[in-house]
Amino acid sequence: MSGPSRTISVGGFSLRPMPAPVLLIGHGGMLARAWRAVLERVNAEVVCPTLEQCDFTRPQTVRDVVNAREGGFGLVINCAAWTDVDGAEAKEDAAYDVNAEGPAVLAEACRHSGSLLVHYSTDYVFRGDASAPYSVDEPMAPVGAYGRTKAAGELALRDSGCRHLIIRTSWLYAPWGKNFVRTIAGLCKAKPSLKVVNDQRGRPTSAEHLAAASLALVQAGAGGGGAGAAEGGTWHITDGGECTWFDFAREINRVQGTACDVQPCTTAEFPRPARRPAYSVLDLSRTEAAIGPMPDWKANLADVMSRLEP
Ligand SMILES: NC(=O)c1ccc[n+]([C@@H]2O[C@H](COP(=O)([O-])OP(=O)(O)OC[C@H]3O[C@@H](n4cnc5c(N)ncnc54)[C@H](OP(=O)(O)O)[C@@H]3O)[C@@H](O)[C@H]2O)c1
Repeated sequence: MSGPSRTISVGGFSLRPMPAPVLLIGHGGMLARAWRAVLERVNAEVVCPTLEQCDFTRPQTVRDVVNAREGGFGLVINCAAWTDVDGAEAKEDAAYDVNAEGPAVLAEACRHSGSLLVHYSTDYVFRGDASAPYSVDEPMAPVGAYGRTKAAGELALRDSGCRHLIIRTSWLYAPWGKNFVRTIAGLCKAKPSLKVVNDQRGRPTSAEHLAAASLALVQAGAGGGGAGAAEGGTWHITDGGECTWFDFAREINRVQGTACDVQPCTTAEFPRPARRPAYSVLDLSRTEAAIGPMPDWKANLADVMSRLEP
């Protein structure tokens, strides 16, 4: 099939070819790699600056990449972030530069160029002590440095007046990169037993699912335009279902077919510099109303594990 009405199935979503050039920032990260694959499938012309070419701690480099394209980019995707949650506790200023100042400069540049900005945020912007899923308009109340810097990034985007989608996600994993699935899969092969915390509840998210679902939202018109985008621009995307880290690890061990004895433990047994949310399930209803149901985390996990990189 050819022509403007042609759609391409990517991760269960029917996506259209991308007519306008796309700027993808955060080149080397886990989510950016998933985005590159999705953009390739929809035949997008993609510009992926390196960290040297677009460094959030050097604002002029950010402006330069956005302005480099005459006529502007139709879509700018920000996958860059300071993601070291524990490290942010000791270096909050440095994390703030990357998670709040950089996105603020990017949003300002996108406002000038008229580009739609897709930006990622996190379940850590919430207090993490709820007992029902966090809706998109729940007030932010981060308890740690990483969450504070990501919340500041969200506020900067909303204040900027640029067209944007802020997409919060949680517990990201992929066949590549540093993530829980690859870590636990390796430990289950190497060790006879393993303890994993069973008192933190959330929603795992396949990075490939997140990228495809994000583009589906963009193509469904979720970015809106101009006034009203501030409130309309916040979304949650994760896999469907919910679990504890222990449930997640046990399923990784099962799918892999390893004989590791995975046992539950408490957060108190493994103290970390940054406090972890006990309950950080993100409510998906707004997203599901726009682009359909999110696939269950066990289905996405099985798919990712069939392609896990060594
Ligand atoms: N991972 C999770 O579980 C999780 C959960 C919730 C939300 N999120 C959010 O999802 C998004 C993607 O996360 P991810 O896991 O794909 O992150 P990631 O793999 O850590 O990638 C982040 C990227 O940002 C780049 N970066 C760091 N400092 C930069 C700077 N000063 N200027 C420009 N780029 C810089 C990194 O480059 P280097 O590698 O060279 O440092 C890396 O390529 C982030 O917004 C994150 O906050 C992630």
